[in-house]
Amino acid sequence: MNRRSVLMAGAAALATSASGAVLWARQDIGRWRAAADAIRQPLNPELTGRAAIAELVRCATLAANSHNTQPWRFVARDADITIAPDFSRRCPVVDPDDHHLFASLGAAAENIVQAAPVFGLSATVRAVGEDGRVRIDLVPGAPEPSELAAAIVKRQCCRGLYDSRPVPADELQRLASAGRGDGVDILLLTEPAAVDAVASLVIAGNTAQFADPSFLAELKHWLRFGYADAVATGDGLFAGVSGNPALPAPVGRLLFDRVVSADSENAKCRAQIASSAGLAVFVSDHDDRGHWLAAGRAYQRFALCATALGIKHAFLNQPVEVPQQRHRLAEHLGLGLRRPDFIVRFGYGADMPRSLRRPIADVLV
Ligand SMILES: Cc1cc2nc3c(=O)[nH]c(=O)nc-3n(C[C@H](O)[C@H](O)[C@H](O)COP(=O)(O)O)c2cc1C
Repeated sequence: MNRRSVLMAGAAALATSASGAVLWARQDIGRWRAAADAIRQPLNPELTGRAAIAELVRCATLAANSHNTQPWRFVARDADITIAPDFSRRCPVVDPDDHHLFASLGAAAENIVQAAPVFGLSATVRAVGEDGRVRIDLVPGAPEPSELAAAIVKRQCCRGLYDSRPVPADELQRLASAGRGDGVDILLLTEPAAVDAVASLVIAGNTAQFADPSFLAELKHWLRFGYADAVATGDGLFAGVSGNPALPAPVGRLLFDRVVSADSENAKCRAQIASSAGLAVFVSDHDDRGHWLAAGRAYQRFALCATALGIKHAFLNQPVEVPQQRHRLAEHLGLGLRRPDFIVRFGYGADMPRSLRRPIADVLV
């Protein structure tokens, strides 16, 4: 072989492997997109009996949940659905008392409550049991489509920048009504001084979390850097949902260690808050599982209402996750012994790539 043919053979091999990699990446994107679309098919109001109950479980799994660990299992029967906590999916560092875990169960329960009338059912959520299980009773009711039920498959945590436009007063009112619950209040902050004061606690909380190696290790455990990882597990925080490029897992891990820092994340948080129309702070009257469940339900209703109104939202929970900052936040807002549950920013912006869920069969007991 002369030098020229060696070079040509090398170039051909490179081109083949490069086009192979492109093809591979395209297949991964295609699989991720198909999975994201499949779980978000609009509700089918024609379904009855066990098929309708299965559809309610699908709705529950589409709820927001901390780190997308999906810490739930479902027992579906003809006249009730029980949501059981899956403690193997808890996050002991960011959520040591399981506040977020029970809020996630509340969000799932609320989706069932909102979707039930689509299938001519009425759903009642029972108190959290000693074992942490939540039973939802289903009885026949009037078939009734609703904006909130239709929003279940569209809701997402939208972590991009918004366009700074204010939300009209009547829509703020609707968000506030949706976000109030049994023993749960919502404070909507739209004035720059009020927003800035909470923003400084977000930065303090974020800085504390990034200084904690165990927080970073837990976060990394649930990060899914590439399309293939996201599809393989059907859970966790896919890079794309935060506006980051999808990368092969080893590259993503390396970059996360080298590039992501408290400073880079603080800059992002500041820009995200500056682009938002306001912040919503959810507050529980008492600090127990029942109230955390109710807070999750209240958030989910707020989120469905926002989605129906074309308003985007995303959590900025750093101050409620770091005890010292949570106490400062409670003091700043004059909450006394009440617990601030979540901070959510809201405003107008574009959709983001969608999170995935595990197959329903994996969460049915
Ligand atoms: C209790 C709770 C706490 C959450 N905390 C945060 C948070 O601090 N930051 C964030 O970006 N998302 C947070 N999320 C959003 C989840 O990461 C998100 O719901 C999950 O990844 C699924 O994505 P989706 O809501 O877009 O379907 C939280 C969700 C819940 C229910």
